[in-house]
Amino acid sequence: MQCNTLREALSQYLKTTNRDGTSEVFQFTVPPDKKFGDICINVFPAVKSTKLPPPQLAQEVLEFMKKQEYVTDGNIQGGFVNLFVTDDLYAKEIETWSLPTFEKRNEKIIIDYMGANIGKPLHIGHLCTPLFGQATINLLRLMGYNVTADMHQGDWGGIFGKLITGWKYFGDEEAFEKDPVHHLLEIYVAITEKTEKEPDIEQECRDAFKLLSEGDEKSVTLWQQFTDKSLAGVRAVMSEFGVHPDVWIGESFYEGIALPKLGNWPDLTPDNTMSAVVDELVTTGIATKNEDESVGVVFEKETKLPSCILQKRDGTHGYLASDLSAIKYRLKNWSPSRIIYFVDNRQALHFKQLFATAKKAWLNGKNTELTHAGNGFVSLPDGAMSTRHGRVIFLKDLIGESFDRVKKILEERERKLADSDTKAVALGAIVYSFLSQDRERDWVFEWDKVLAFEGNSGPYLQYTYVRWKKIINEISNVWNLKIEGGNLTTFDRDLIMDILGFNEVLENCGTSYKFHLLIAHIATMTRHMNALYRSE
Ligand code: ARG
Repeated sequence: MQCNTLREALSQYLKTTNRDGTSEVFQFTVPPDKKFGDICINVFPAVKSTKLPPPQLAQEVLEFMKKQEYVTDGNIQGGFVNLFVTDDLYAKEIETWSLPTFEKRNEKIIIDYMGANIGKPLHIGHLCTPLFGQATINLLRLMGYNVTADMHQGDWGGIFGKLITGWKYFGDEEAFEKDPVHHLLEIYVAITEKTEKEPDIEQECRDAFKLLSEGDEKSVTLWQQFTDKSLAGVRAVMSEFGVHPDVWIGESFYEGIALPKLGNWPDLTPDNTMSAVVDELVTTGIATKNEDESVGVVFEKETKLPSCILQKRDGTHGYLASDLSAIKYRLKNWSPSRIIYFVDNRQALHFKQLFATAKKAWLNGKNTELTHAGNGFVSLPDGAMSTRHGRVIFLKDLIGESFDRVKKILEERERKLADSDTKAVALGAIVYSFLSQDRERDWVFEWDKVLAFEGNSGPYLQYTYVRWKKIINEISNVWNLKIEGGNLTTFDRDLIMDILGFNEVLENCGTSYKFHLLIAHIATMTRHMNALYRSE
């Protein structure tokens, strides 16, 4: 919490008692229960510099603070000093509070997100990585960082052998044009069935993938068609949710073969292809070649990481190799200070192995931070999503369905909104429902909660925002409003505390990439804002 006056007093305390350290380390919070006090000082972080045992430090701070004219009483709970303060202090603190100003920083951050796989239809579970990722991108940009948002799609692998072969038997230009991802799924299902009945087809699929890998013109054209069209679909849906990647450098790029580039980014140099990277790691002794010619990494015992494979016996590369190649490419072209991966929790081990290998190979002495910002699993009230059981909400249906539901709720309430506003409420509700979850936890998508018009929900936040915007527009210079001491209501005090705490929560989000902290803060604030005029 930003409390300039209290911090100033703590500086005085350190000075007059000749203690080492700065007042910056003390933290302010709101006590869990108002019966303990109005505001709480956490002294623990100052134990180190002041070299005082916590009870003594807390005692000294309490005594010093009690002498301040705006402190009426206080007590100690553990290492926490609770203070009761006058309205004057609230007024002083809010008058000196300001939104943070962020300078432009000469620092690059890469966000790796929405690694959707080509040819697979997206469902609501696939919204986690784009939404958490984009929120982080927006915040880090606001904070002055130079961010590159990279949609790392899965656009390579055996599935393309199946799709290309399937196209030969079942492809239909018109159906593909109409709904590319849907048709690719149909082809995939049909060819899988065919291979079950005719085992030779399996080999045909493998040969087709090999042909594609060798740059066969016809195969490459099909690959590009499938990939381009699918990506265009993904990007169209995502842009409805405000998700806009800057580049889409998929897994195929790192093969370094004659595939057309899907956008405008630096070329891959010969030393950066997956096979070159695997060779480099073997040469530097980080990876080892096994007897059967496969290549793997064995980690030191204390890491407790199981060993992993970079290159299979037949010379093809695994998922890990593409991610290693991507790290080398990003370091070389962008020198990022952070690379943050928004990928679901089930890949936690993959990222541990990836980071451990990359650190040994390229990050010694460099301070590039690699983070896996994992997300949990989304299910529906009747269970995990399952296409086979028809228990799934596809992204292509989500926007329409949420629109219809909001429209119905509005009709029931006899409210009229323009279609564009109805859509904004629907989309906002969905984004809010994702961001309000602890990113790492599993959660259940329930329409009633997502579209609730009261409480902790997107529509309620939007309503509060619109209403307050109107109020603020009517009172000019609201931030310079003088707060007269002695007549604050509980609501005024709550709201002042919310505002004082806002910047810190924002900062936290910028390092933890956990937006539910911010949403929870805003939800509390929304509740207080509404209580304010409801009480009058
Ligand atoms: N396409 C991958 C999958 O579906 C996710 C990619 C995540 N990003 C990454 N750099 N590995 O499993």
